[in-house]
Amino acid sequence: MKKRKYVRFGIIFLLPLVFIFSQCLNKTKTADPRGENYAGSAACLKCHSDMAKNYLHSAHFLTSRNATAATVSGSFQPDSNTVVYNDRQKVVMEKHPGGLFQVLYTSGKLTTRKRFDLIFGANRGETYLTWDGPEVKQLPVSYYLSLHKWANSPGGYYADSVNFSRVIHERCFECHASNIQNLNGVTAADMQSDSLDKSSLILGIDCERCHGPGAEHVKFQIENPTVKQARYITRFATLSRQQRIDFCSMCHSGNSNVMTKTTFGFKPGDTLANYTSGATFHAYRDAATVDVHGNQVKLLMSSKCYISSKIECATCHSMHDNTVKTAAGYSTYCTNCHSPANHNFCKLADQVGPAITTNCIDCHMPVKSSKTIVVNGTNMEGTPPFLARTHLIAVYPGETQKVMAMLSAKQKP
Ligand code: HEC
Ligand code: HEC
Ligand code: HEC
Ligand code: HEC
Ligand code: HEC
Ligand code: HEC
Ligand code: HEC
Repeated sequence: MKKRKYVRFGIIFLLPLVFIFSQCLNKTKTADPRGENYAGSAACLKCHSDMAKNYLHSAHFLTSRNATAATVSGSFQPDSNTVVYNDRQKVVMEKHPGGLFQVLYTSGKLTTRKRFDLIFGANRGETYLTWDGPEVKQLPVSYYLSLHKWANSPGGYYADSVNFSRVIHERCFECHASNIQNLNGVTAADMQSDSLDKSSLILGIDCERCHGPGAEHVKFQIENPTVKQARYITRFATLSRQQRIDFCSMCHSGNSNVMTKTTFGFKPGDTLANYTSGATFHAYRDAATVDVHGNQVKLLMSSKCYISSKIECATCHSMHDNTVKTAAGYSTYCTNCHSPANHNFCKLADQVGPAITTNCIDCHMPVKSSKTIVVNGTNMEGTPPFLARTHLIAVYPGETQKVMAMLSAKQKP
């Protein structure tokens, strides 16, 4: 792990600053732990109430949340609450009056018991975190939604050792939450620990995590109800494509980049290079090597569509509308650019026939399985790997064969 120069400064100079700062915050009684420039999502929804319905169900909003009996998806029933690691060790998911727990039994004896405090993940899986003093640690068992199964957590978890000690750093929260303050000033250099301030945590990705601080916007629009234009808030439409890509890239270019400062301060319009050492940032990873962290940005940027047109994330994804789109729905974005009239339509059009417009993506943006996620554990053999939709738009002969076979099977009476 590359050490960061500012870490030592952080410990010497920032600790007193953090202390003074927290005293000031206590005096002013700011409602939002990020400071008085922030208004909080509840304030935004008062005027932008049309967004509430979708936003509250979005993967962004739900990506981190409190773990309760109502929010944890896995079963605590005796027939399906156990992950057996080996003939000595098993972890049992248990519900007690004090909360939900992962309990390690070694040769039948209870040896460790940790509470489910937080959930990370809204889409394909849930991994669970527990507060251990000022540190946050990941629990050994995660829940895989598509498998409807508890299994060993991804990354650094092995079939033969039950690991309760993986420290979760501020960095994870930078992409999965809206705020947490690091009591060391910055992520600890050795990556062995990280003291985080529980009271500063804002779960989920909220309006201002994406739009930047909005208190001034709220104040202005309240005081000037006749003004129908937005003031004091960055308009995405005024940014360059690179600025909009940098914004998504802050979280959607894999999690192995070396950062030089926290991205909690990143606002739309900022340049991501100012937050990184640059070297590893846009590193290319093909879909087969992604873990749970897809690198949609680099894959899309490597596509001919990106190089030769103005395509960007927002061409296909809207941040405030999470109605599920079908393959046919996504294909309409492709045919806005690629059509017989534009003389750049699919070369396979004649072979595929009229069904072509229903599914460009399974041939040109196929779902690939991640080879880096292996769900370990002796009772987990044969589990399907983790799937990710590659964002490298290209010709994939192997996938074409599969889709052609599927289409011709459908045509048979
Ligand atoms: C008092 C009412 C009010 C509140 C509260 C409010 N807004 Fe707005 N907002 C407006 C109005 C009016 C507009 C301009 C019309 C429009 O685009 O809907 C606007 C526009 C916007 C825009 C669009 C800018 C553009 O044109 O691209 C964004 C983004 C935005 N608001 C974010 C927020 C956020 C984030 C919050 C909470 C911190 C918030 N608003 C709270 C009234 C409000
Ligand atoms: C602050 C970090 C952050 C930013 C900024 C961000 N995302 Fe995300 N996004 C996430 C995380 C984390 C998830 C995974 C949520 C989960 O499943 O737990 C996600 C999920 C998604 C998904 C899958 C959603 C679903 O419902 O299945 C899409 C699509 C997406 N993001 C697109 C974008 C685009 C486009 C941008 C830029 C306009 C963007 N995101 C900006 C963190 C971010
Ligand atoms: C650079 C931003 C970033 C960092 C740092 C990061 N994540 Fe993620 N994480 C994401 C995004 C974006 C997704 C969704 C990726 C996708 O769907 O392709 C995701 C997905 C996940 C998922 C799967 C969720 C789902 O519903 O599919 C888990 C679990 C997860 N992250 C845990 C963690 C943990 C634990 C850490 C710290 C060790 C971490 N992440 C660090 C951005 C990040
Ligand atoms: C994951 C990041 C993200 C989150 C969370 C988010 N926005 Fe946005 N918002 C965007 C982006 C990017 C745009 C630009 C248009 C687009 O790409 O959909 C946008 C556009 C807008 C607009 C302009 C109108 C429109 O629909 O284009 C308003 C108003 C707005 N957001 C308000 C909000 C409010 C209020 C919240 C919280 C409830 C919120 N946003 C949460 C990223 C986000
Ligand atoms: C904004 C316009 C635009 C959109 C949207 C778009 N493309 Fe493209 N695409 C292009 C351009 C321009 C090229 C480059 C053509 C050339 O170089 O001759 C291209 C190239 C391609 C290529 C050739 C790739 C290669 O490596 O040879 C394929 C395949 C393709 N697009 C499929 C798609 C599919 C499928 C979609 C929808 C998922 C899509 N495109 C969406 C504009 C677009
Ligand atoms: C040409 C259309 C297109 C563009 C452009 C595009 N996506 Fe996607 N994206 C898709 C499709 C199709 C899916 C799969 C949706 C599904 O299966 O429900 C997807 C899925 C995702 C997911 C969920 C993870 C997964 O593997 O299913 C994330 C996260 C995401 N996109 C982020 C982004 C980001 C960030 C950008 C910009 C760098 C972007 N996308 C640009 C079409 C696009
Ligand atoms: C059954 C799989 C399949 C489907 C469905 C499909 N394509 Fe293709 N596409 C291919 C293959 C294979 C090629 C390469 C053919 C060749 O080079 O002879 C291709 C070629 C292309 C090209 C030209 C690439 C170049 O080399 O210039 C574009 C653009 C394209 N497809 C877009 C689309 C769009 C848009 C859709 C949806 C309307 C679509 N494709 C649907 C398999 C498919």
